[in-house]
Amino acid sequence: MALKTRITELLGIELPIIQGGLAHLAYADLAAAVSNAGGLGQITAMSLPNEDALREEIHKVKQMTDRPYGVNFAIGQQRRPFESMVQVAIDEKVPAISVTGGNPKPVIDMVKDTPIKVLVLVAAKRQAVKAAELGADAVMVVGHEGGGHLGRDDIGTFVLTPEVVDAVDIPVVASGGISDGRGLMAALALGAEGIEMGTRFIATKECVHAHESYKQALLEADEKATVLIKRSLGQPARALKNNWTDEILQLEEKEVGYEGLKDYISGEANKKYIYEGNQEEGFAWAGQVSMRIDEIPTVQTLFQQILQDVEEIKDKWSKF
Ligand SMILES: Cc1cc2nc3c(=O)[nH]c(=O)nc-3n(C[C@H](O)[C@H](O)[C@H](O)COP(=O)(O)O)c2cc1C
Repeated sequence: MALKTRITELLGIELPIIQGGLAHLAYADLAAAVSNAGGLGQITAMSLPNEDALREEIHKVKQMTDRPYGVNFAIGQQRRPFESMVQVAIDEKVPAISVTGGNPKPVIDMVKDTPIKVLVLVAAKRQAVKAAELGADAVMVVGHEGGGHLGRDDIGTFVLTPEVVDAVDIPVVASGGISDGRGLMAALALGAEGIEMGTRFIATKECVHAHESYKQALLEADEKATVLIKRSLGQPARALKNNWTDEILQLEEKEVGYEGLKDYISGEANKKYIYEGNQEEGFAWAGQVSMRIDEIPTVQTLFQQILQDVEEIKDKWSKF
């Protein structure tokens, strides 16, 4: 079954499902699995050390799938230039890129004379309107439920999505708190034309870089499983609650600032948890939707389940 929306048309994909950028986790294997299953898989560019590594990862995806894929650029929190990495994506003629964490204008300007589609992540109506004015092809709205870095206004997906849909003419993708076909149908009902999922894809077989204990933590998650850290830095982000995040929150209460927090929130501390499973000396990003995850399927099986949900819901609605 194909589900046609302006997003599937724009990206040339079968299902309006996008795998979000996942720092240190979304490499060729996951991206290709998502694209092969009919969605849009993405590599996370800024987790890669340099331009050559990005080029190599793009080559791997090209070998693993002949379907469209994307490259994600988190430009805001990076302490290194992103332009040369974007240039690699342009040279490699990637089908789509997504941009988050900062003013997307330089990236949109760089790709505007190419066939590359640009998706801009937003967490507020004003950002969506700006992205549309700048020439984005679509916006992805990330609500407060989501995993990783979030907007500062704490607005949930259910409110933010229709607000953005009403404000822009370009297609809108809903993100944050979605894990199944019910979430997909709800997003479509809100006026979105696709979904992006992050946390759900970590708990799949093809997310091979995530340590088993990270996936296990997602399976065991309940209502109290996630917390927001880094709010004191103006960069709120949702992670799995553990002793490490408790310490971060205590330090934030003491207003220690970036210098006092940097070792706790570093990429190294992130990798200790997600690669080594060291839950005492590291942290892992995850969304509230962790509590809805109770198995680790292949991406293909996940998409089949989503399509089954979609059929069941359509059937139910037809009887209203
Ligand atoms: C482990 C993890 C890492 C993430 N890294 C990135 C990233 O590098 N770039 C990005 O645009 N978004 C990143 N995100 C956000 C996701 O792409 C997506 O927007 C978010 O997970 C959606 O919410 P959900 O987790 O409820 O599906 C990350 C999320 C998680 C859980």
